[in-house]
Amino acid sequence: MAGANRTYNFCSGPAMLPEEVLLKAQSELLSYQGCGMSVMSLSHRSDAFLSILSQAENRLRSLLNIPDHYHVLFTQGGASAQFASIPLNLMQPGKPGGYLDSGYWAQKAIAEAERYGPVKVVASAAESNYSRALLNGEYSVGAKLSYLHYTPNETIDGVAFPDVPQSGQVPLVADMSSCILSAPLNVADFGVIYAGAQKNIGPAGLTLVIIRDDLLERCGDRVPRLMNYATLASQNSMANTPPTFAIYMANLVFEWLLENGGIPQIEKQNQRKAELLYNAIDSSSLFTNAVEQGSRSAMNVPFSCASAELNERFVRQAEQAGLMNLKGHRSRGGMRASIYNAMPYSGVEALVNFMQKFESQYV
Ligand SMILES: Cc1ncc(COP(=O)(O)O)c(C=O)c1O
Repeated sequence: MAGANRTYNFCSGPAMLPEEVLLKAQSELLSYQGCGMSVMSLSHRSDAFLSILSQAENRLRSLLNIPDHYHVLFTQGGASAQFASIPLNLMQPGKPGGYLDSGYWAQKAIAEAERYGPVKVVASAAESNYSRALLNGEYSVGAKLSYLHYTPNETIDGVAFPDVPQSGQVPLVADMSSCILSAPLNVADFGVIYAGAQKNIGPAGLTLVIIRDDLLERCGDRVPRLMNYATLASQNSMANTPPTFAIYMANLVFEWLLENGGIPQIEKQNQRKAELLYNAIDSSSLFTNAVEQGSRSAMNVPFSCASAELNERFVRQAEQAGLMNLKGHRSRGGMRASIYNAMPYSGVEALVNFMQKFESQYV
């Protein structure tokens, strides 16, 4: 770590950003590329900002191999606003929105969609207490759905789908907030991909939507203008002032990914980090993780000790050692380490060393 006061931040979001990105932003904060003003003050209609916007889109297209018949939209409101935008834009008369209930965030998406139209929960992992992903072959989608929505990585439960759901002709919609850009994906498998930025993309305040062009025809006039995908697409994400600084930061994160070997390389690093941490948990007699082997998330790793008191002590002592935000979600308790793209291997090593030291005191 470069700065003396830097810590390893295991927050589920807003999460760590790559240090190189922060340093570059710092170096041009007062005068963006010598123009005499901060990027935060550039007009969103200026050539300088328009070139940041198109560079961000092009870099993202290159990272994810996004086909030409998909639009990339930079919008706001977080993934939670997308929970409403999806049904508002994509529901068709007489066809419910289909949902896979895989955990906390899937349920949030379902509850919001129910406000706007009929919802069909196609399958639920409730029986396993959300300790494993829903697998292809365990449910059938049928053709009578407007779309099938799922959450490939459940940030709170620490559960990841090992496969892309097979939805046939029904457009697949994925909330990739906590896994986008962490491993290769085939964009053509999806109708819509969306993600809040504050984990693997950049600062909070930016939301990314990737949408197949034919679906834009579904977006009716009654959808609020700033949530209407067709409007956002036709206005090049500038239906109003976009989150310019967050887009600038995302552009730097995309550049950082490209310069470091792109998605295949970051996936390798993510696998190494996750393996190190899960091995430490599995070989310990103090810490446990309840998620089934094939469903474990490489991004969010929940774990706990046998008592709430020990968990609290762990979180407190970890903070004193510079390992921040390891407290689990308030609905689940225990601990959770979020190890997104920007978490270096050395951060996970530091955590594992700390876990071993902690264990030696209490076992
Ligand atoms: C998978 C997932 N979906 C949705 C959200 C909500 O995101 P936002 O706060 O950007 O609305 C989160 C936030 O952590 C998330 O992890």
